[in-house]
Amino acid sequence: MQEKIKQIESEAIQAINNAQSLPSLDDARVRFLGKNSEFMSLLKSLGDLPIEMRPQAGALLNTVKTKLENALRDKKIVLLQQDQQKKIAAGKIDVTLPGKGIRRGKIHPITQVMEEAKGIFLRLGFEIAEGPDIELEYYNFDGLNIPPHHPSRDMWSTLFIKDDVLLRTHTSPVQIRVMEKRKPPLAIIAPGRVYRRDYDATHSPVFHQLEGFLVDQHVTFGDLKGTLTEFLRQIFGKDKNVRFRPSFFPFTEPSAEVDVECVMCSGKGCRLCKDTGWLEILGSGMIDPNVFKAVSYDPEKYSGFAFGMGIERIAMLKFGVDNIRLFYENDLRFLEQF
Ligand code: PHE
Repeated sequence: MQEKIKQIESEAIQAINNAQSLPSLDDARVRFLGKNSEFMSLLKSLGDLPIEMRPQAGALLNTVKTKLENALRDKKIVLLQQDQQKKIAAGKIDVTLPGKGIRRGKIHPITQVMEEAKGIFLRLGFEIAEGPDIELEYYNFDGLNIPPHHPSRDMWSTLFIKDDVLLRTHTSPVQIRVMEKRKPPLAIIAPGRVYRRDYDATHSPVFHQLEGFLVDQHVTFGDLKGTLTEFLRQIFGKDKNVRFRPSFFPFTEPSAEVDVECVMCSGKGCRLCKDTGWLEILGSGMIDPNVFKAVSYDPEKYSGFAFGMGIERIAMLKFGVDNIRLFYENDLRFLEQF
């Protein structure tokens, strides 16, 4: 029996030493210490030995078992480390390969113009307010002195969500929302997306506006002219002339559209300005007393001006882009030019 055990031990140690991989090590474990191994049957047959031989044989079997288990464990650690080394070697970075060339991102031209416009007004002392894109009919129309069935509702081809809920057609509803909550003096700009049923080379169903309004005592049309002239000079250049043309908006009285000298021909007349020498940039006016009444301001005490402009239009004129869709296609060849 002793002989047999010694023989199994040396065979097992050899098999463990020779194992080159984790599976072959496991094979050795099953072969020498598994349920059906010779070693296990020896253990089981201990009871058949004459009683005086049992302690010695039992002790020997236990020593060998512990030895083999330790050998298996040590070899397993060695093989695991080798495996790890192989994996690291396989995944090693080849520093001689050419790099991936990370392209530098740029701010989208619409964002650039929006940020520039906001910056100008922030430096003039305006603060930013925002309103929801999905708006109540009241804020988009009624509160702005555009009652139901008023013909001027046709000026904004509206996308309705349900009866009294719509996608805002302009940023002017923010005027009402802010004035409902706060008291003058107010100098606010409201940037954001607006929505209209329009789609051609210069109109997109989703575009951006920047609204502005200022309310206090004794605000005059001169304040409006001064503020907007300063803004347009900063955004289009000091050399560009600006003109104010009478117009109509239900929520301002008097109203004016503001033009800037054509960016392409500098006023001589060309295709872009349709030979007028001028480009229409924004709508503006003195806030209508009916708007003040809607927000419970006293029109005798307060006056104010408001204006609204399309950011895409300004970007098209500044950068000489003739199709608005280019802004939304995300073609890098286009976007990288700004
Ligand atoms: N909301 C108007 C538009 O979208 C612009 C505007 C704003 C005009 C404020 C006057 C005052 O056309």
